[in-house]
Amino acid sequence: MTTTPFRGGFTPVTEEITAFDLAVTGRIPDELNGRYLRNGPNPLSLDDPSASHLFIGEGMVHGVRLRDGRAEWYRNRWVRNAAVARRLGEEPRPGPTHEGMDFAANTHVIGLAGRTFATVEAGALPYELSYELDTIGACDFDGGLPGGYAAHTHADPATGELHAMAYFFGWDHHQHIVIDAKGAVTQVRDIPIADAPMLHDFALTERYVVIYDLPVTFSMAHAEKGVPLPYAWNDAHGARVGLMSRTTGEVRWVEVEPCWVFHTLNAYDDGEEVVVDLVRYPQRFVDARLDLGGTPTLDRWRIDPRTGKVDQTRLDDRAQEFPRMDERLTGRAYRYGYTAATRDLTDVIYPADTELEDLPDEAFDNTLIKHDLEDGTQEKRQFGRGAYVGEPVFVASGQAEDDGYVLSYVNNPARGAADLVILSAQDFTGEPVATVHLPARVPLGFHGSWIAD
Ligand SMILES: [Fe+2]
Repeated sequence: MTTTPFRGGFTPVTEEITAFDLAVTGRIPDELNGRYLRNGPNPLSLDDPSASHLFIGEGMVHGVRLRDGRAEWYRNRWVRNAAVARRLGEEPRPGPTHEGMDFAANTHVIGLAGRTFATVEAGALPYELSYELDTIGACDFDGGLPGGYAAHTHADPATGELHAMAYFFGWDHHQHIVIDAKGAVTQVRDIPIADAPMLHDFALTERYVVIYDLPVTFSMAHAEKGVPLPYAWNDAHGARVGLMSRTTGEVRWVEVEPCWVFHTLNAYDDGEEVVVDLVRYPQRFVDARLDLGGTPTLDRWRIDPRTGKVDQTRLDDRAQEFPRMDERLTGRAYRYGYTAATRDLTDVIYPADTELEDLPDEAFDNTLIKHDLEDGTQEKRQFGRGAYVGEPVFVASGQAEDDGYVLSYVNNPARGAADLVILSAQDFTGEPVATVHLPARVPLGFHGSWIAD
């Protein structure tokens, strides 16, 4: 790999912008009062080592504040870890670190207890941001975190408890962390796991925390060669999924076919069985490279803890990522999911998988997909060449599961800038409810949240 992955839709922006009273096509629903925030890697310079791997670019959060039917502001801000602060001519913010891992969190941005956090995995702490996206400092929740935190979290809609699974190359375990709705760490459990595997996401049901223990593990050989993210596919490490009882902490492990999973769509208990919907890759991080290992599919695992059997079915074989759903139903039976099939992501994550070349252009031409998992059907919304659609975030409105909006940043190549597109989830292929015209590009990134005021 000689070229930076920060090309095409991932090409970084070079400025921080603040803009007010943005132009809007359509009508922003009055009920959307809050911020749509999204994090992603945005290296300060393409000459920096952080530009050599997609997962280590310095985090930048892009946000739009909506209020009373107006798009009040757009802001983009780098997350200031100490190094970014110095590069920008600022004083580093005081704050804790874990094992010296001070990272400009680049993977997700979430709201918790009225606060805003940029999150990342693999040993570093989250960074707290102000309402206006300025960096406050690294946060260990008043010493409640024994180590680092996680990029992905899942909140139990019944209790508001936020669950996370942390990992670190120096640990012989993963760590399950519960933070309550007031922002206090209330439970920490260590789960012994060999070989220091990577763990990007997990799943939550009413009974279980579902842990993926898959064959991508920390690789000292690659670390010694200076590979920036030294995790590699490891045939010697088995593939299994753990059902950890939320009440006792006991883990029931069951074997699965070797594969890689970045993301969960949702999971739920079905009688004694557990259903987990996820985006699954045949392999990933082969020789510690992100661009080898086949294309992902949306799959369902039906796990029977009594027999240890896992039944795998394919929900959709089109390459897609960034699964989201109505989080009022996290861990519960549900019907609808939303994903993105984004050409620019394809070009970086699996360019070497030549079978893609046989597919027609429209197959991966920047599409948002609404899945009806009950009917087994999909609605596909095309955005065209160069639109590099991002993660579709669902915002609930009425009681019905798909009564709400789907928000995503979509590049508008004609303007050379991004739009925040607000779709009606029930009219997924119809005219957008509103399109907010931002003053700048928003590079393709990772994850975000709607954080209501
Ligand atoms: Fe992710």
